[in-house]
Amino acid sequence: MNVGNTELKAGLILAPMAGFSDRAMRLACRRYGAEYTVTEMVSAKAVTFGDKKTAKIARICADEGPVALQLFGSEPDVMARATEVMSRGVDGFVPPVAIDINMGCPVNKIFSNGEGSALMRDPELIYRIVKATVGATDLPVTVKLRAGIDREHINALECALAAESGGAAAVALHGRTRVEMYSGRANREIIANVKKSLRIPLIANGDITSAEEALDMLRATGADALMIGRGAIGNPFVFAEIKAALAGEPYTPPTVEERVECALLEIRTAIADKGERIAIPEARGRIAMYIRSFRGAAQIRAAVNRATTYIEVEDALHQVIINN
Ligand SMILES: Cc1cc2nc3c(=O)[nH]c(=O)nc-3n(C[C@H](O)[C@H](O)[C@H](O)COP(=O)(O)O)c2cc1C
Repeated sequence: MNVGNTELKAGLILAPMAGFSDRAMRLACRRYGAEYTVTEMVSAKAVTFGDKKTAKIARICADEGPVALQLFGSEPDVMARATEVMSRGVDGFVPPVAIDINMGCPVNKIFSNGEGSALMRDPELIYRIVKATVGATDLPVTVKLRAGIDREHINALECALAAESGGAAAVALHGRTRVEMYSGRANREIIANVKKSLRIPLIANGDITSAEEALDMLRATGADALMIGRGAIGNPFVFAEIKAALAGEPYTPPTVEERVECALLEIRTAIADKGERIAIPEARGRIAMYIRSFRGAAQIRAAVNRATTYIEVEDALHQVIINN
């Protein structure tokens, strides 16, 4: 599929994840086959205020390949202004290849502001937001939806069609309702149903953690591309595994050494971007995922959780290689 001029050959996308899909994770996933990645969500309002912290999240570097920038907000004019600003990219960095609009965030703070998944209560507003953002940029605009607000209100199709009418270039759909948050399983029937009626490309999302899940998702939905979130945290290798399966090629999982090196590189990249004081605490969750299946993981995790410097993290992770 294509998003504007960006061609996705295998159709493998890293999902936007606040607190995770920063440059360090995006680069790691790209190295293993993610063709397109999405930033953490950025507040449209904060962009229009010129907020410095927000600008840091929006930094994209040339070595990252195609990166879409995700905005959240609920007011068409604010979304349009933020889109205009973000389409140029942050000063000294490269612009995104697309603007993605968050219409799926279930978190109370966002939802109660009428943002994220709350937009799905009002397909007409979705239409107006997409139309306003499309009018504010030359970049393609995509949207990310959930199945609906709750089981009684499954309206992903109506919302996707509203986005399409507004000029969206593609829709990503997480097959869960807002109420479900991350529980149960993503519903593939709902994704298949939306795919059937949409003219623009549909990206399937939810619970893809292996090649088998990826192939199942494609078979069940006919989706044009796959978006992977939690399955890539501490496991960027999942992209290589899926890529090999799609090409019908054999796949060799990474060795323990490769996993540890990959984790350390991700941390070094995060430190280069954010400094040790911020990057080390933020990295704890990812490291836990990198090492979770290894012997002695609990002890090493505890050591990583105590660590405040890169050297301490490196020492702890080298213990993984010794133990396994
Ligand atoms: C920690 C975390 C942060 C997330 N942040 C965002 C976000 O900023 N924007 C967004 O659209 N979705 C966000 N999501 C949702 C994911 O993009 C994705 O839709 C969801 O996790 C389901 O896909 P998965 O099963 O592959 O993880 C987040 C999910 C998690 C677990």
